[in-house]
Parts: sequence; C-alpha cells; structure tokens
Amino acid sequence: MTVFNSHSTADTESFAEKIGKIVTSGTCIAFFGGLGMGKTAFTRGLARGMGIDCHVSSPTFAIVNDYGGNPPLVHFDMYKVDSWDSLYSSGFFDYLDMGAVLSVEWSENIENALPENTVRVTIEKGEDENSRIITVEGLDIE
Ligand SMILES: Nc1ncnc2c1ncn2[C@@H]1O[C@H](COP(=O)(O)OP(=O)(O)OP(=O)(O)O)[C@@H](O)[C@H]1O
Ligand SMILES: [Mg+2]
Repeated sequence: MTVFNSHSTADTESFAEKIGKIVTSGTCIAFFGGLGMGKTAFTRGLARGMGIDCHVSSPTFAIVNDYGGNPPLVHFDMYKVDSWDSLYSSGFFDYLDMGAVLSVEWSENIENALPENTVRVTIEKGEDENSRIITVEGLDIE
C-alpha cells in the first residue's frame, strides 16, 4: 500500500504519471472517493505516463472513453451504471479481455465485478481545499 499526499491538481497528475509508466496490459485501476476528488485528474496523469497525448474528461454521458495507446487506456464513469446489463453494454469485460488498461471512476457501483488483481485508488480530502490523500493498493510503486 502506498499513501501519497497531494497538494495540488498538478501533484495528483504527476503522481499518476509515475503509475502510468508501470501499468501493464490488463491492469484495472478502480477509483473510490466522491465527487471532485480528482479521479479524472489522476486519469489525465495516467495517460501522460502511458505516452498517450489526448484530452481526458469524465465520460459521464458516454460512460466510456477509449484513448487509444498501446496498450490502450480506457476510461469509465460508472456513476450511472446500476445493473449487470448496463455494465456489460459499457464494454467493461470486452476491454478487460482485450488487455486494455482500465481507469474506472465510481467503482463503488461495480465493486462485485472488479477483477481480483485490481489496483484500488482511494482519494480523500486532506486538510485544505487543494489537499488530497491518495491511497494505492495492489501495485508496487518504488
Ligand atoms: N490535490 C488535488 N488533486 C486533484 N484535484 C484537485 C486537487 N486540489 C484541487 N483539485 C480540484 O478538484 C477537482 C477535481 O476534478 P476531477 O474532475 O479530476 O474530479 P473527479 O473525482 O473526476 O470528479 P467527478 O466525480 O465529478 O468525475 C478539479 O477542479 C481540481 O482542480
Ligand atoms: Mg471524473
């Protein structure tokens, strides 16, 4: 388990960038933590670390954004996913099978469907407005 104290959006992004450099095909990164904690900011850093240059935003309406790359980074927003049917139609399992790296916002909603080796990222508020305490479980970060 790694705990990182972030003091800004840029901090969160550069911490995530380090993680983007070490993730491998089939890694599922599941976010826990409420609104505005920085899940999308983290995903932006991940993309950068994976060498993907693209616009990253919460796929709230689409549910899924595929950013390409090798392996591809695929970004989910499970906020409105409330059934196995909607989870299947989001392509979650297909993307896992094809070896993409998955970034999953609102993983609380699909916790039972997460693969066993999921990397769990929990983001909580810190002492001030721009602080976040980021806990990563299931990945060795040097
Ligand atoms: N240390 C920090 N790390 C990340 N974001 C921060 C931090 N401090 C302040 N912020 C701000 O918090 C917001 C985080 O937004 P972001 O969209 O990344 O969150 P989110 O968890 O994806 O939210 P949502 O649940 O709405 O999708 C941004 O406005 C960002 O500037
Ligand atoms: Mg978001």
